[in-house]
Amino acid sequence: MTDTRDSEFRDRPLRSFGRTGGRPLSPRQKTLMAEKLDTYRIAEGDGPLDLCAMFPGKEAFWLEIGFGGAEHMIAQAAQNPDVGIIGCEPFLEGIAKALGGIEETDLNNVRVWPDDARPLIARMPDQCLDRAFVLFPDPWPKRRQHKRRLVQADFLSILHPKMKPGARLRFATDVKSYADEALLTFVSDGRFEWLAASPDDWRCPPQDHVTTRYESKRLGDCKPVWFDFRIR
Ligand SMILES: C[S@@+](CC[C@H](N)C(=O)[O-])C[C@H]1O[C@@H](n2cnc3c(N)ncnc32)[C@H](O)[C@@H]1O
Repeated sequence: MTDTRDSEFRDRPLRSFGRTGGRPLSPRQKTLMAEKLDTYRIAEGDGPLDLCAMFPGKEAFWLEIGFGGAEHMIAQAAQNPDVGIIGCEPFLEGIAKALGGIEETDLNNVRVWPDDARPLIARMPDQCLDRAFVLFPDPWPKRRQHKRRLVQADFLSILHPKMKPGARLRFATDVKSYADEALLTFVSDGRFEWLAASPDDWRCPPQDHVTTRYESKRLGDCKPVWFDFRIR
């Protein structure tokens, strides 16, 4: 007899994030979670997402996977009011920070998915995204942990169909083995055109990059690298 729970478990992607809880939320963060999460979250379910209905009047749709403390997502949303931005992040404190940023900046162009990005991406219509950001993803530095890294061929196969031809994807890391592995994965996929024309294009932060608190900690083993790709 087949145990469906077993097969569901086998089909689920390996967890690519660490803890989802951490320090207790501050009273303000608890209030934000209680009073604002439902306003800004994308509802759970299996149904397809309607991005035009989610972001009325917006001209383009961006995705940030693993927004952490939300500094980059909030700043990008403020600088790009015509863009609807979906941010995915299972870490509770990060979600609370995103809600705080949305409220403080009075943004109408951010929606939050407080969970693993992958099932949400599966609900997106084909060729709907203009940009995607995977910035300093969990490094999983030990060799036996590499299988938990988000950027793998399977992940690209989920994400690529959701991006418009000509759309942009940005990956950044400060972990050498992840930089090497991710670049190889993107380039050998064949559907992601690496845009670097000179070393400074990947060694220096792109002009529109917004540095986050996590990035500033420089926890990795190399200087940060930024890889920008165009979707074929
Ligand atoms: C190391 S932090 C970096 C946060 C942020 N991008 C920055 O640069 O400050 C990586 C974040 O990615 C989130 N993450 C990892 N896997 C994810 C997934 N499958 N879906 C959504 N978020 C994920 C983690 O919870 C974590 O907060």
